[in-house]
Amino acid sequence: MRTAAPKIFGILGSNISYSLSPQIFRILFDKYDLPHGYFIFDHAEKDLPSFVGSVLTLGISAFNVTVPHKCDIMQYLDNLHRTAKDCRSVNLVVNRSGRLTGYNTDIFGIRKVFADAGVNNFSNLRTLIIGAGGTARTVLRFFQSKRAKDIFVINRGRKRLHDMLSEFALPTHGRRIAAYQKTRSNANLKDLEWDIVFNATPVATSKLLPKTAMQRKPLIFEAAYGNRIATVTNSRDVIGGIDMLLYQALRGFEIMTRCRIDDYKKEKAALKRRLRQSFA
Ligand SMILES: NC(=O)c1ccc[n+]([C@@H]2O[C@H](COP(=O)([O-])OP(=O)(O)OC[C@H]3O[C@@H](n4cnc5c(N)ncnc54)[C@H](OP(=O)(O)O)[C@@H]3O)[C@@H](O)[C@H]2O)c1
Repeated sequence: MRTAAPKIFGILGSNISYSLSPQIFRILFDKYDLPHGYFIFDHAEKDLPSFVGSVLTLGISAFNVTVPHKCDIMQYLDNLHRTAKDCRSVNLVVNRSGRLTGYNTDIFGIRKVFADAGVNNFSNLRTLIIGAGGTARTVLRFFQSKRAKDIFVINRGRKRLHDMLSEFALPTHGRRIAAYQKTRSNANLKDLEWDIVFNATPVATSKLLPKTAMQRKPLIFEAAYGNRIATVTNSRDVIGGIDMLLYQALRGFEIMTRCRIDDYKKEKAALKRRLRQSFA
């Protein structure tokens, strides 16, 4: 019998009707016998102050944050959990008695996915991050914490790239961290080689990098889960964003509901099966 009081949860982003988060959380609420609701809150950046006001007025218990608000939301919060401070990016906000705390569970998802792929030691790995948004910040923090041999970052726009690099006060740890502006010809990329490419943009890697930038047959990580099946030439393997999405959701579910997940890998696999069934 259900004893918990119903709560309102959701995901904040802009143009996110494709989001799988409502399905994911409804599966989890059902499995853990919780009477909660999970909704899409689709708002542009200019609406963030009024959205945050509504969270407090309506008593929304927690909300995930996705593209493009992971950095902008931070200014409206009362506290940042250590994970969000470290990554300078928030993907979960919890409302505790009117005080809003930002968390980052994306880094948990990234850590789990690399561990599942058997990549644990980064000290000899040259890494490339494409993007300079909220997710790029999180993966940059992850590669730094893993003391990757090299971390390169490229981005379409100069401003966000420079903002990100100065926020992280790069270079650090004595590792070589260089930023490259993507040019139309990619001329400045062709002599570089990577072991891991983490694409933190909505666009498939095959459309962003020239074949010549894939000499070492890197392991490619596509954060955007729709890009898993995109053709990538010269890659060793492609890790899709779906597992990251499920892991970060499971960690978020624990924080939001205080339920405990005993075995993340098993729970992630079960969630994936249920999701597939719901689309069959
Ligand atoms: N699987 C998961 O769990 C998961 C988790 C987090 C994010 N994601 C995905 O990761 C992607 C990035 O999310 P985010 O929150 O970091 O978004 P964000 O903060 O808005 O950043 C988006 C980044 O993508 C770049 N970009 C956007 N459109 C582009 C284009 N047409 N060509 C080249 N670069 C482009 C932007 O460059 P500019 O600075 O030049 O605008 C920026 O660097 C999204 O697709 C999101 O769905 C997946």
